[in-house]
Amino acid sequence: MSKSAELADLIRAKAGVEPPALGLILGSGLGHLAEEVEGVAVPYSDLPGFPHAGVSGHNPKLVIGTLEGVRVAVFGGRVHYYEHGNPAEMRLPLEILRELGCEQLLLTNAAGSLREDIAPGGLMMLSDHINFSGNNPLIGEPSDARFVPLTEAHDPQIRAGLAAAAKAEGIDLPEGVYCWFSGPCFETPAEIRAARIFGADALGMSTVPEVILARFLGLRVAAVSVITNMGAGMADEQISHEQTKAIAPMGAAKLERVLRRYLQQL
Ligand code: HPA
Repeated sequence: MSKSAELADLIRAKAGVEPPALGLILGSGLGHLAEEVEGVAVPYSDLPGFPHAGVSGHNPKLVIGTLEGVRVAVFGGRVHYYEHGNPAEMRLPLEILRELGCEQLLLTNAAGSLREDIAPGGLMMLSDHINFSGNNPLIGEPSDARFVPLTEAHDPQIRAGLAAAAKAEGIDLPEGVYCWFSGPCFETPAEIRAARIFGADALGMSTVPEVILARFLGLRVAAVSVITNMGAGMADEQISHEQTKAIAPMGAAKLERVLRRYLQQL
């Protein structure tokens, strides 16, 4: 039996067999949403082989239960490429999700904005992404399935649903292109200028490997960024992880309203 099938069995034994309709991965400073789900929490440490998210501002557990009457699987935190240098580290959690029968995945992250009209505290939905890191979670995958088309990687139908939910809540949800930098250091102002010329609207240290893995595994996926700062050199401020954690809850409150409305409309 594969590792993911084994862990899916373990999770079903604890949380029941009904497949989650939506998987949700919470980014830095957004972990509290896991507390809103009525259900069973499984600490990552109870899942052998599961990558531990070791970043402060994350909530390292999987919660399976209901939110707005919809069965969801919420990952309170994710491991980042910069923690261990393995871009495929989120493969097992996503394989488990698929094993549980989940078909839709919503990724969230904290990100820096490259656009003056998308300010800290606001949200941006990813219409597309740029893999600036030079890394790929499918390097070493032997099957031809590795040649994943990414033309509509960010699912148009889920995005339309989230856009409608945001509109109904009166919350601005502009779409834009997210650029993945490996981190863990923040970018230089020159890198920020380069990313803008490339056509990026926001940037961060996650999400792109998960989008690639999700598409590889056949999961439909969309992602929303909580903007915590302007890119380096764009504003008169010092960028820090403290700032990310302090500003993220402002955007998280908006994201929660969009998500709840989205689930009501599912
Ligand atoms: N750069 C990279 N990652 C981030 C940023 C940033 O400015 N803000 C939050 N996550």
